[in-house]
Amino acid sequence: MSDSIQVEYDRLKAVSAGPVVSDHFRQFSNLFADQQLWKSYIWLLDIADKPLKGATVVDIGCKYGHLMPLLIAKGAQSTIGVDVDDLYLQPAKDVIAANWPQASFVKSEWGFLPIKSDSADLIIVNEVISHVNPGYLPTMFSEIGRILRVGGRVIISDGNNIANDACRQDLVNVYDAWENGPEGRNTGRDVVEGSFLELRKQRIRGWFPDLGADKVDYLALNTSGLFGDYLKTVIERYLSGGEFIERRYRRGDCPTNPGDGGVVMEYGFYPQQVEMLLGMYGMRAHQVEFAPRIDWSGAKRALGSGYVVANYWLRKILQPNAYRSANWGFQILGVKER
Ligand SMILES: C[S@@+](CC[C@H](N)C(=O)[O-])C[C@H]1O[C@@H](n2cnc3c(N)ncnc32)[C@H](O)[C@@H]1O
Repeated sequence: MSDSIQVEYDRLKAVSAGPVVSDHFRQFSNLFADQQLWKSYIWLLDIADKPLKGATVVDIGCKYGHLMPLLIAKGAQSTIGVDVDDLYLQPAKDVIAANWPQASFVKSEWGFLPIKSDSADLIIVNEVISHVNPGYLPTMFSEIGRILRVGGRVIISDGNNIANDACRQDLVNVYDAWENGPEGRNTGRDVVEGSFLELRKQRIRGWFPDLGADKVDYLALNTSGLFGDYLKTVIERYLSGGEFIERRYRRGDCPTNPGDGGVVMEYGFYPQQVEMLLGMYGMRAHQVEFAPRIDWSGAKRALGSGYVVANYWLRKILQPNAYRSANWGFQILGVKER
């Protein structure tokens, strides 16, 4: 199986070498092929505990669609990638869908998923909910419930578990960096390319090129959290003498990209919150717990891993819910019941 998956990624690397493909897309293809990034998705698919053969799989927040060759190699009959960003969707169509006919790509708007009801066997949402505008989340969860078949599964994996104190504290710095910049600031997770304050300035300048620099700065500073057409509407009202509410960035709040998708940067979740959201829309969900195992491959390893296992079970008995906050990330498996 492993070999046939690698063959697909070598093919993706080859078709990504052409001149129409962006450097960014090509870098991803190379990562999947050369560093076998696809392997880091296998454990995620294993959570579903259902064979992919003949399945219809939806990847929400698919970016360029690099997961598709893996899903297809594992037997998926059809795969649908969903994203909000045309900068990802267009190359996904041009390269992935053009070379893997089982794959197609659609755009999500306002949290809606343009996919038929009761048609998906598995939905993957990896590192996405923390980027979906929180205003759209209930719609997206309701849509997940609508498009899944009864018995179908959804896997939600995310790296922003705010039940974990260290993760929650770290996010404050990440939020500040993405809202205020400056360009190139290293958050420890990534590097800021275009802070949201700067992006608001750019959008405002683009819409109203005659506006003085001071006004642009004032408006950008006081429209934190606004995005898309509504940002423009609020500024138009201000310029025509209407009431203007100053919305400054509040430290600790997750910032919003002012672009049309309203994408946010690393919104944090309590795992229970995600379970409840799925539950509200007809999916029974639980946080997946990974129990450590003893490594019998040598005496030293067995001793070391035995200690970890003993620690795990002791803590499990004393604090049965500790696993919820143990890591910076969490994985939730939902099964559609109705
Ligand atoms: C961090 S990337 C994760 C990409 C991919 N799932 C992975 O495993 O690497 C987050 C993706 O979510 C997408 N996204 C953000 N808001 C979305 C929405 N409302 N609907 C669908 N995709 C969205 C972004 O455009 C981006 O491609």
